[in-house]
Amino acid sequence: MANPSLLILPGDGIGPEIMAEVHKIIEWFGAKRGLHFDVSEDLVGGAAYDAHGVPLTDETMAKAQEVDAVLLGAVGGPAYDDLDFSVKPERGLLRLRKEMDLFANLRPAQCFDALAGFSTLKPEVISGLDIMIVRELTSGSYFGEPRGIFEENGERVGINTQRYTEGEIDRVARAAFDLARKRDRRVCSMEKANVMESGILWREVVQAVRDADYPDIELSHMYADAGAMQLVRDPKQFDVIVTDNLFGDLLSDVAAMLTGSLGMLPSASLGVPMENGRPKALYEPVHGSAPDIAGQGKANPCACILSFAMALRYSFDQGEEADRLESAVENVLSKGLRTPDLMQKEGSTPATTSEMGDAVIAELEASL
Ligand code: IPM
Ligand code: MG
Repeated sequence: MANPSLLILPGDGIGPEIMAEVHKIIEWFGAKRGLHFDVSEDLVGGAAYDAHGVPLTDETMAKAQEVDAVLLGAVGGPAYDDLDFSVKPERGLLRLRKEMDLFANLRPAQCFDALAGFSTLKPEVISGLDIMIVRELTSGSYFGEPRGIFEENGERVGINTQRYTEGEIDRVARAAFDLARKRDRRVCSMEKANVMESGILWREVVQAVRDADYPDIELSHMYADAGAMQLVRDPKQFDVIVTDNLFGDLLSDVAAMLTGSLGMLPSASLGVPMENGRPKALYEPVHGSAPDIAGQGKANPCACILSFAMALRYSFDQGEEADRLESAVENVLSKGLRTPDLMQKEGSTPATTSEMGDAVIAELEASL
């Protein structure tokens, strides 16, 4: 059987240097666990714009459609701030999400014990935190029509449209319920049914899916603003949260920061199953391209490494190897190694990006 294929898109800023660490991890799994991948690499975001004048070429898009999984670093940076909207680095990422139809974006917010002191919240509020946000990723106000900036009565008007079909809500609800079955079987759905018709429909459809096919799941509903408040007040009340594209963008940043370390959080974006049964999939860290520290060996590669762990779990059916990799990262933190984003005190010497990657490899070795 052919090796599973992986397309790596390092992107901009710290993307290439964190991805270099993931390459080491991938090689380790090949050499030590017999897990071989056909890895190809290509450009996305500003890097693609610099080379080709677009943030994602049609060729790269076609490749992404063919592979078993895509692993992306990060896109964007100040050098591209003045570009036309249509060729901004972010458009490359949005095109991948839309054309691969990656409707279910899984964003875990997990608090590593060793980092509980990093949160701005009290340790007891967040220690042991383990929630999963399922964000709808291919519809809603990010993509709804009409959109644009138009002239109206002598002034300009900016328009975006929040739009959800029943089918779009149904499928992301199922993704959330399926995940909840592997966790604590609780889902909280967030919308603004008090002001938006799309929210009324969202609530109805999510409830109907639960009643018809997931009676074993405890479903609650919350207005998204109250949800944001509850996330900060008592985040451990949640297991799985399912929400739309824009609310999910905001709520997942809130949830991420609860853990105190954006540099630790991975994500998976999953679509419908391909012929081989694997879902279309793209994995990426939740953090951005951090242009201010790019190229200095200061970036934390853990979120990107953990994104590869999610690929092992969700694309390659290697749950045990994913556990192995996640434990390796956790052990590195427990032993006190820290990249600068995880340092509280001045004076101690931070680990570099590649020292962090090497330490994860050492823990993987120790796990054998
Ligand atoms: C995210 C980011 C993206 C989004 C940007 C980079 C387009 O904020 O993945 O959360 O808004 O979806
Ligand atoms: Mg965001």
